[in-house]
Amino acid sequence: MVTAAQQQTASAPDASRTFPEGFLWGFSTAAYQIEGAVAEDGRTPSIWDTYARTPGRVRNGDTGDIATDHYHRWREDVALMADLGIGAYRFSLAWPRIQPTGRGPAVQKGLDFYRRLVDELLERNIQPVATLYHWDLPQDLEDAGGWPERVTAERFAEYAALAADALGDRVKTWTTLNEPWCSAFLGYGSGVHAPGRTDPVAALRAAHHLNLGHGLAVRALRDRIPKDARCLVSLNFHQVRPLTGSDADVDAARRIDALANRVFTGPMLRGAYPEDLLKDTAALTDWSYVKDGDLELIHQPLDLLGVNYYTPTLVSRADGSGSHSSDGHGNSAHSPWPAADEVAFHQPPGDTTPMKGWAVDPTGLYDLLRRLASDFPGLPLAITENGTASDDYVNPSGEVNDPARIAYLRGHLAAVHQAVADGADVRGYFLWSLLDNFEWGHGYSKRFGAVYVDYPTGTRIPKASARWYSELARTGVLPD
Ligand code: NOJ
Repeated sequence: MVTAAQQQTASAPDASRTFPEGFLWGFSTAAYQIEGAVAEDGRTPSIWDTYARTPGRVRNGDTGDIATDHYHRWREDVALMADLGIGAYRFSLAWPRIQPTGRGPAVQKGLDFYRRLVDELLERNIQPVATLYHWDLPQDLEDAGGWPERVTAERFAEYAALAADALGDRVKTWTTLNEPWCSAFLGYGSGVHAPGRTDPVAALRAAHHLNLGHGLAVRALRDRIPKDARCLVSLNFHQVRPLTGSDADVDAARRIDALANRVFTGPMLRGAYPEDLLKDTAALTDWSYVKDGDLELIHQPLDLLGVNYYTPTLVSRADGSGSHSSDGHGNSAHSPWPAADEVAFHQPPGDTTPMKGWAVDPTGLYDLLRRLASDFPGLPLAITENGTASDDYVNPSGEVNDPARIAYLRGHLAAVHQAVADGADVRGYFLWSLLDNFEWGHGYSKRFGAVYVDYPTGTRIPKASARWYSELARTGVLPD
């Protein structure tokens, strides 16, 4: 029963538009997307270097060789954030910079880069939030089998230990994996991400070993970082909606929810794979690679759950009429969804962004936050990525106006604000991204930054959205 008073709380708009005291405002980036310098100071290729160099994989043949040249311009980038009054910075460590072959001791120069970066952030009062894995698996580990093999999870824990030993005294917030769904299902299922394999069983095996790597890494981190340091994982939740209320469509949504979301939250947060997932995939795999004790290892207490959200997912039971469109995850003859042939993906209503098929729908974020708050009570949430690509250009006055990005952010932040007002414990928001950067298979064709990057010169120009976001970060009040 919902009382009149509760209804009032649920629907009353919060006139103040003020975020809670201490709410963290940040920017997000990832190593391969911004650093460049791929062969400097001992770094060797990751799967993304190899993939990007394979003709036909990345738009225009773009690679991360130079990217935004952040490896050399990091000080300027930190200064930009400080000028904008931003309180936190989520970046990733490049595994192949720290441990080029994925084995053995750390490369000091690799660690030094991150140590300098972190020191500068702390100096400028910006909280560092380090991600251990944002998709750049050392190529040698892929050559030894990659994420479908158990050994990769074990290697990942060793790398986590090296990173924590070197930076654990300064970095207080650690993320194990970024969007393991993409690593497993786009990397090994549809092949639109590195390493570009197209084997549904390998994708499921990869999902399990990413889960295991997460658990082992949390254990390695906890052994090394101070008690008040925090561990999280960032998942790209798919807010899956059925096209109609029919049993068939609701069941299609359940199936995709299991393959997108609960394949990770099940073991990580509940200590078990969902029964329906095991049943749905039984014709493909017996899950015998889940060994005794794995689920206990994966199920480590977390301090925060990282939520990456861009767009919702709309599905129905395929009726054979060929009505289905893309699932927003790139064009491939191979589906990223194992054992889901009978599911059709539809274009969600609303405007789309320059990312094909990505509809603008802040209600997806609101619903997601409310659902996570109720599914995992007591686990605080942080939005570790949200943002949009837009077709930005420098106008004759030398400015970059990006009204579509501001509108997107305003809508999604209003949704976050409402979810908080309605009880979701959200501690922070990280805009993707600080800089325009290498957008994976799309290369440099999609600009997600609040700061424009002129690639030929490396010049940075804060866009109108950067100023808008800066006001929000300084005041904690959502601007009109
Ligand atoms: C998710 C990924 O974590 C990030 O690397 C990517 O650039 C953004 N979303 C936008 O697609």
